[in-house]
Amino acid sequence: MIGAAQAGKPVTITGLGAHVPERVVTNDELSQHVDTSDEWIRERTGIRERRIAAPEEALSDLALPAAREALRQAGVEGSDIDLVIVATVTPDMAFPSTGALLADALGATDAAAYDLSAGCTGFMYALAQGYGMLAAGLARRALVVGGDVLSRILDWTDRSTLVLFGDGAGAVVLEAAPDDGFLGFELGADGAGGASLWLPGSGSRLFEEPDRFVKMNGREVFKFATRVLVDSAEAVLERCGVAIEDVDVYVPHQANVRIIDHATKKLGIPSDRVVINVDRYGNTSSGSIPLALADAEADGRLRPGKLVLMTGMGAGLTWGSALMRWTKAAA
Ligand SMILES: CC(C)(COP(=O)(O)OP(=O)(O)OC[C@H]1O[C@@H](n2cnc3c(N)ncnc32)[C@H](O)[C@@H]1OP(=O)(O)O)[C@@H](O)C(=O)NCCC(=O)NCCS
Repeated sequence: MIGAAQAGKPVTITGLGAHVPERVVTNDELSQHVDTSDEWIRERTGIRERRIAAPEEALSDLALPAAREALRQAGVEGSDIDLVIVATVTPDMAFPSTGALLADALGATDAAAYDLSAGCTGFMYALAQGYGMLAAGLARRALVVGGDVLSRILDWTDRSTLVLFGDGAGAVVLEAAPDDGFLGFELGADGAGGASLWLPGSGSRLFEEPDRFVKMNGREVFKFATRVLVDSAEAVLERCGVAIEDVDVYVPHQANVRIIDHATKKLGIPSDRVVINVDRYGNTSSGSIPLALADAEADGRLRPGKLVLMTGMGAGLTWGSALMRWTKAAA
């Protein structure tokens, strides 16, 4: 699916918030659980540490402070929100949705609220949905959240997955804009590759030995990721008639520094325009891109007028890009 955002009303991000759990887990600490080392993890992934949720913390506990900050920045109350979308593969529970729980906690009593599952690409899918509902006039103000507590579904004896992921959440408020804002989206899925990154036994399909832990073919996912980060970004840029040189801030999904470096070089984006936080947070799945946006705003790179390219990829297999002109002043 691809489209330039020309048909409906202009829509933009007016508030942005992010939240990570307090507990920092270093590579050295993980090497007490599995046969790995700080050197291996840093060289192969660029990750130095990640945040891990406390036992009593669920996704909504991470999403709530992120959402409150996004609302504060947008200058709106929970009751002003009429759409809540939470992108995640680790909701508090299968139902009620974390979206409904969050809407309740925020006082968004008039909001439609639900969860969306598109692996680590979830936030990009949710942004596109939120955009579409606002552009079409179905909603006036959306809260779009991306977050995961992947530590809950990791096998703490499997070094091939344990070292890669972390927990965190981010949130944005979407509202109508005078002119600029989202310029276009490209989203895709390839279910044939689904078993390269999956959670067998987590739904209605019965498995002989379900264990509810993430299973991954790292090399296959690596090849997929390096391909789609480039293809998806090029597709959305072409559809919007924008040259890669014009991209001021590139926010790729934060899975692995090597994957990001590969895509950045292939696309020809100067490294000072690339946002990286995988070193501090690991792969936070749906939280990755909003957390990176918050970092880029904090370090002064995201300013009104800047052209921002975001691309996510993950389980499904799925991928998705959004191109937007940043309109929000730092709060
Ligand atoms: C997982 C990943 C980091 C592995 O890096 P890699 O360079 O491909 O490493 P390989 O899988 O070839 O493994 C190399 C060796 O390191 C070992 N190894 C794997 N994980 C290890 C770890 N945490 N610590 C130490 N050694 C490890 C392997 O067993 C292998 O040993 P062998 O050569 O004796 O068989 C990389 O494939 C990757 O990032 N893939 C994409 C994952 C991803 O992004 N997933 C989420 C997408 S949203």
